[in-house]
Amino acid sequence: MISIKNVSKWYGDFQVLTDCNTEVKKGEVVVVCGPSGSGKSTLIKCVNALEPFQKGDIVVDGTSIANPKTNLPKLRSRVGMVFQHFELFPHLTITQNLTIAQTQVLGRSKQEAHAKGMALLERVGLTAHANKHPGQLSGGQQQRVAIARALAMDPVVMLFDEPTSALDPEMVNEVLDVMVQLAHEGMTMMCVTHEMGFARKVADRVIFMDAGHIVEDCQKEAFFGDINARSERAQQFLAKILQH
Ligand SMILES: Nc1ncnc2c1ncn2[C@@H]1O[C@H](COP(=O)(O)OP(=O)(O)O)[C@@H](O)[C@H]1O
Ligand SMILES: [Mg+2]
Repeated sequence: MISIKNVSKWYGDFQVLTDCNTEVKKGEVVVVCGPSGSGKSTLIKCVNALEPFQKGDIVVDGTSIANPKTNLPKLRSRVGMVFQHFELFPHLTITQNLTIAQTQVLGRSKQEAHAKGMALLERVGLTAHANKHPGQLSGGQQQRVAIARALAMDPVVMLFDEPTSALDPEMVNEVLDVMVQLAHEGMTMMCVTHEMGFARKVADRVIFMDAGHIVEDCQKEAFFGDINARSERAQQFLAKILQH
């Protein structure tokens, strides 16, 4: 579903991604971890064509991002993206947040978009909040709305960039529960997260990045099961995040 081939990217003189290669198959859940500044967000934004890259190609469901003929807005509409800071429209109600892109980007009727939005709101357990504004919801609730909003576009893949790292601790699980459910339903997911419990539960593979390189890309069982077989850098990182 996602094929990342020899992708390199520079910000000016600074090389942020170096020859990155990986694949995410349909229905697969891949967790991306690594130290701050290692290029995780940049890589995931490249998959959504939110950031250009100078070398290599990324193919999403058969569509090449590097191909200048590709309609990037159309591709983006099929790739769900959930950010650390929710990015809901603050001046719109939850219902409006859930329907606006469906009507404006996909051309759905208001009724169809509303029905779809409400069904997804129910799925994330927030029906009672339909007419509120994002500012009236907790961070965990806003993030669940953001996931519902992405799902309303019928994405072929869902990308998550540290979806729980801005949340108060007691709200992390309600968001992870929605993500676990999605994974069990067979959604193709690429998740930047340091929630290793989530990774252990639903990931098929774990990617470890360091300084713009994909240093590790292995089955979850191998990643967690045989720490000594991991690169030194990955071992150091895991030791730090798994210490407590
Ligand atoms: N727009 C930008 N311009 C210049 N440098 C950037 C930009 N965005 C990110 N960087 C740099 O690229 C590196 C990787 O950033 P990022 O992908 O956000 O890492 P991560 O998500 O792993 O923390 C960092 O060194 C960061 O400072
Ligand atoms: Mg990041």
